[in-house]
Amino acid sequence: MEIQSIKQRFGIIGNDPKLSRAIDIARQVAATDLTVLITGESGTGKEVFPQIIHHLSSRKHKSYIAVNCGAIPEGTIDSELFGHEKGSFTGAHEARKGYFEEVNGGTIFLDEVAELPLSTQVRLLRVLETGEFLKVGSSKVIKTDVRVIAATNVQITEAIQRGKFRQDLYYRLNSVPIQIPPLRDRKEDIHLLFRKFANDFAEKYRMPALQLTDEAVTLLINYRWDGNIRQLKNITEQISIIESERLITHQTLIKYLPKTTMVSLPVLYSKDDFNHDLTDRDILYKVLWDMKKDINDLKRTIFELSQKSDTKHLQESDPVLIKKIYHDVSNETKDFDSSVLNDGDYEQITEEVANENSRAEESLSIQEKEIDLIKKALARYNGKRKLAAKDLGISERTLYRKIKEYDIS
Ligand SMILES: Nc1ncnc2c1ncn2[C@@H]1O[C@H](COP(=O)(O)OP(=O)(O)O)[C@@H](O)[C@H]1O
Ligand SMILES: [Mg+2]
Repeated sequence: MEIQSIKQRFGIIGNDPKLSRAIDIARQVAATDLTVLITGESGTGKEVFPQIIHHLSSRKHKSYIAVNCGAIPEGTIDSELFGHEKGSFTGAHEARKGYFEEVNGGTIFLDEVAELPLSTQVRLLRVLETGEFLKVGSSKVIKTDVRVIAATNVQITEAIQRGKFRQDLYYRLNSVPIQIPPLRDRKEDIHLLFRKFANDFAEKYRMPALQLTDEAVTLLINYRWDGNIRQLKNITEQISIIESERLITHQTLIKYLPKTTMVSLPVLYSKDDFNHDLTDRDILYKVLWDMKKDINDLKRTIFELSQKSDTKHLQESDPVLIKKIYHDVSNETKDFDSSVLNDGDYEQITEEVANENSRAEESLSIQEKEIDLIKKALARYNGKRKLAAKDLGISERTLYRKIKEYDIS
């Protein structure tokens, strides 16, 4: 099948060569039984790839199932994947078939595979290597013929270093890697995708499609899109619903684009790191430290400028000065194409930089409050995690993770 027709059949928009290459690999690997690991930031469009592979393979008439490993509680995931015997744990009133038995002959997509607990990783490795597994609470070996495709939005190599992911499993899963580029690296496709979503929502809400002015297009293309295609789609929907004027200017558009604090962060930390270790003290301190440095640089720049300048009255709102400060501060990062900004926007951005410090401090104190709440809840229930989790309104698994992360005893 031609790449173009695959795109059409699976509703994939975009002409980026990196995207086409990913589709090409999926197409070629489909006919084999090789395990495939799809990596890419959240929202880049990973979910369609295992479907392409399954539907172009000889397994296409057999079952396909997608399992979100991050969404299944740690306590039941082995049973969901591999099944269990009656009475193998409290509540196991009936024996149950797991996905690896049900999907025999077909394809399993393990989404967010890095979230699998280590004990499940051992079982998974075994079934990948031998085609054999045991149900929970059983010693009878069961054979299965399942093709596994996995996806992750985390840097798995870092998870391995942190001891959260087995290296041998990684190598086994990664027989064929497919990388999905972030939207910001597919600039040519951004406007294309916007038009596609604008048309879809126009149809859905029965109104004329949104259009962008030239400046708005430039802004759209140069935005960071940390949430990738999912974020672009959501924002297009919001604008479609809220704005009555169908021609969208960049002033209107900018209101919908979150002023990502990532403007000064991404060089040090990929977005994935930042999200996953947001609760990690080290990173927060480092972030605070960098912000402090930025602000000191900013102060110095203002000072130097006021020394150099022979006009005695430098006004803070002077767009030229603010432009200069903004350029100096963001010079290292260059993530944001400043040419798309208007003079008025610089005020917003300088304010933003100044606000970052207090914002990060806020999240630090939120973290402390969270630790405090967890400790109190645990004390209240004599360390019973199930009850404490319920009280806190989080899953037991999340509580477990937080206890580990914050090192709460
Ligand atoms: N190339 C594309 N063309 C059109 N829509 C896309 C494309 N890639 C992703 N999408 C849409 O973007 C959203 C996010 O995609 P998804 O596969 O769920 O991302 P991920 O699993 O990588 O987080 C979905 O609504 C999907 O339909
Ligand atoms: Mg996904």
